[in-house]
Amino acid sequence: MSRIFLRKSMCIATALLIPIFTPGVLQAKKKAPVLFRVDNLTCEYKINPISVDVTNPRLSWKLITLQRNLRQTAYEVRVGSNAATILKGLNIVWTSGRIPSDQSVHIYYGGRPMISRQKVYWQVRVWNNKGQVTPWSQINSWKMGLLRSDDWTAHWIQSNDAQDTTGGASPMFRNDFMLTHKVKAAHLYISAHGLYEAQVNGKRIGDDYFSPGFTSYNKRLQYQVYDITSSLQKGLNAFGVTLGDGWYRGYTYDRKKNVYGKKLALLFQLEVLYTDGKRQIFVSDKSWKVTYGAIRSSSFFDGEVYDARKEIPKWATPGFNDAGWQPVRVNDLIKDKLIAMAGPPVKKEERFAPRQVLTTPEGDRVVDFGQNLVGWVKFKLKGKAGDTIKLYHGEVLDQKGNFYNKNLRTAKQEITYVFKSDTAETYEPHFTFQGFRYVKITGYKGPIDSTNVMAYALYSDMDQTGKFSASNPLINQLQHNILWGQKGNFIDIPTDCPQRDERLGWTGDAQAFGRTATFNMDVAGFFTKWLKDLSADQIKGGAVPYVIPNVLDSTYSAASGWSDVATIMPWNVYLAYGDKQVLRQQYESMKAWVTYIQQHTRNNLWDTGNHFGDWLFYSGTDYEEGAAHTDKNLIAQAFYAHSTQLLINAARILNKEDDVKKYVQLLINIKKAFMSEYVTPNGRMISGTQTSYVLALNFDLLPEDLRESAAKRLVQNIDSYDGHITTGFLGTPYICHVLSRFGFTDRAYDLLMNESYPSWLYPVKHGATTIWERWDGIKPDGSFEDPAMNSFNHYAYGAIGDWMYRVIAGINTDETSPGFHRTIISPHPGGRLKNADGELETMYGKVKSAWSIADGNITVDITVPPNTSAQIILPLVGSDVMESGVEITSITDLTNVKNAGDDIQLNAGSGTYHFVYKLKNVKPKRA
Ligand code: BGC
Repeated sequence: MSRIFLRKSMCIATALLIPIFTPGVLQAKKKAPVLFRVDNLTCEYKINPISVDVTNPRLSWKLITLQRNLRQTAYEVRVGSNAATILKGLNIVWTSGRIPSDQSVHIYYGGRPMISRQKVYWQVRVWNNKGQVTPWSQINSWKMGLLRSDDWTAHWIQSNDAQDTTGGASPMFRNDFMLTHKVKAAHLYISAHGLYEAQVNGKRIGDDYFSPGFTSYNKRLQYQVYDITSSLQKGLNAFGVTLGDGWYRGYTYDRKKNVYGKKLALLFQLEVLYTDGKRQIFVSDKSWKVTYGAIRSSSFFDGEVYDARKEIPKWATPGFNDAGWQPVRVNDLIKDKLIAMAGPPVKKEERFAPRQVLTTPEGDRVVDFGQNLVGWVKFKLKGKAGDTIKLYHGEVLDQKGNFYNKNLRTAKQEITYVFKSDTAETYEPHFTFQGFRYVKITGYKGPIDSTNVMAYALYSDMDQTGKFSASNPLINQLQHNILWGQKGNFIDIPTDCPQRDERLGWTGDAQAFGRTATFNMDVAGFFTKWLKDLSADQIKGGAVPYVIPNVLDSTYSAASGWSDVATIMPWNVYLAYGDKQVLRQQYESMKAWVTYIQQHTRNNLWDTGNHFGDWLFYSGTDYEEGAAHTDKNLIAQAFYAHSTQLLINAARILNKEDDVKKYVQLLINIKKAFMSEYVTPNGRMISGTQTSYVLALNFDLLPEDLRESAAKRLVQNIDSYDGHITTGFLGTPYICHVLSRFGFTDRAYDLLMNESYPSWLYPVKHGATTIWERWDGIKPDGSFEDPAMNSFNHYAYGAIGDWMYRVIAGINTDETSPGFHRTIISPHPGGRLKNADGELETMYGKVKSAWSIADGNITVDITVPPNTSAQIILPLVGSDVMESGVEITSITDLTNVKNAGDDIQLNAGSGTYHFVYKLKNVKPKRA
């Protein structure tokens, strides 16, 4: 007993006193300050959002404490209309009252439905299981966007000029507004057909790029809201807005253009509140003027042509003489598709200095930025007026060290800049992005270094929530590459690749990588927005297009493993963030997709339609007939079952009992059909490939008694390829999970640690800084794969990241308590790794699982966030387990301690835990 008591005192001293006092008996006797508060208040995943468009938004907070085993037992939220008086409990528009509950995320605001422009302030306080209550939290706020189309008094304006054509110059719109009083608050509501960049009084508004973002424009068009109070002055104020083609009418797949329309347009509404309480609205209308300037053309695929001689100085400053500008055309385009910005905006996130400047064997001058990144180059260079400098962007150098960009297909990725003077000029692009590591520069011979040439990575502004590292530098580089695959391909939508003439929201790629993405970054808002576009673009009958937003013909739809993103991704978001709303939001879409398949089956068998199959599987020399080729219809049937299972899961959570019954029966039939068509009575699959066993096992298609032997067959298949992976996009995400589930984690490690082709580390060994589209983008002989399809930044194979977090580090979701409200922490040492460290910032706080092996002992360091619990599975226990020096069975905070084979299982509440024990030597399971 005394040991337990001592340890507890030590723990409290460690947790609460070290930051303030030197630990010691005397000081420990002093009353410890209680560190328990609420922080990180968010509304619909955002901090102080100003464009909320749901009338009952959800509120979340984090409990901050170092105490162990701490749970929220009750909360109270209050929402007021005034920041100053809420503290006194005045002007309260809604209070939850004290609600006994451990729910600290996704609490619905329960007051009267919010209305357009309404701004409220909110606070929360919580009670815990130790009898403590926090003070009221800091005050946060949220502000509503424009909820109704008639909130918009602005008119759509366009240029009348013939230059307003795809690939043409960028129109620049301007106007001056007279503000009659001192400004108390000013909000700009703005959207465009095309992309916009806005200025007020000569300064750029906001720090986001490619706004209004990419949605299915004919059904959903985002607007942004900017608080520009501090940029305005009493008197004359000038506004300038430049437009670019962007996704709206710019070139896309197959050089198709004008997908959503031929003409660019601007919608601008400035709402000003003066200090005297009066309001005034300034809008886009016929009083605006338009002209053309330095941006001669801009395109995502092709880059930008900028002639600095055509710049118009001070065009967005007050009093500029726009007499020579053209009047605009007012066009009554519809406003009822306008929606508030949902996901995170794209921002300039990281900066790269040139790593080296090379002269290639062909004599080109090439800057190497050391990282295959997505964004652009900013420079400050000196030329002569009229000189042209060109920047060509490529991902790799060829075998001989020459600049290479054939794999861009028709995308040019070129910047052309014409100097206006003989002094140094600064430029960065506006309406384009490039995927590159290397930049060939022509037309400039002067020095290049970090003072005059920099690369910027742009991507959707998502917090990095996950970290993974291990004792093997190649694995760390792989994790780096996975993360950079995500950064480069999360530019407002999840794309297949960011460089060639594609850059589309390919659904298969997104579903393969989606779960990994939830570990690396906070993708809740990003995917919630994209899934709404998926529903919007779903074709009558439920077919899901190949790409979202759907810029292809509507006949390009309904491919297995691609369209299943409709069920897979909502489920991933639910697991990662405990977000039931996304299931509610997507339920009809999920159901429609399963119904579509159902209607294309015969005797419950889906064996029709066009499918990509296990895309880019290892094909050896013979592409279609290679031994790793999996029957496409087998795959279709497997994903049909998986989607149905996920629909059942969602129906259960949403209490749709009739649907549960209906789809449970359907799933039984789907599995029966799978068995009779694709599996022999003894459990041999008709396609004896890794992917076929992986899908059958991962989706529980085989009856229990055939699973063990199927898992062994999978291992034997891997052996037959000398320990190599042969799966494509569809088998890869699950192969290591299946191996682990059936006791073959050592074999999963072998796959992961393999350095020869095909493997995850093969590209790493070849200098990759991102994930490649193909296992052999650069072949073992140093030559390239077919340039028609050879991206060096394609995240699908990065799906192994999910296994690294969930199995190596062992941070796993408990599906019955999602969003990491309960975490299953089950680290798996192996692969000759000495240590591995995984961290994930969840909605509740940080989950950590790190292990380290030395001299036959293992230490496992675990952090469980406040208001959550964990089931911890300590692996391969060969001695008593000590936690911070105390044997675990005598620690009252750790409950249900029991043996489970070679492991020990226990339950823990929040806190940090340091376990040490001797590692048991266990022989690997044989196939
Ligand atoms: C894309 C892929 C995509 C595929 C469909 C390709 O061109 O780059 O990643 O999923 O087409 O098979």
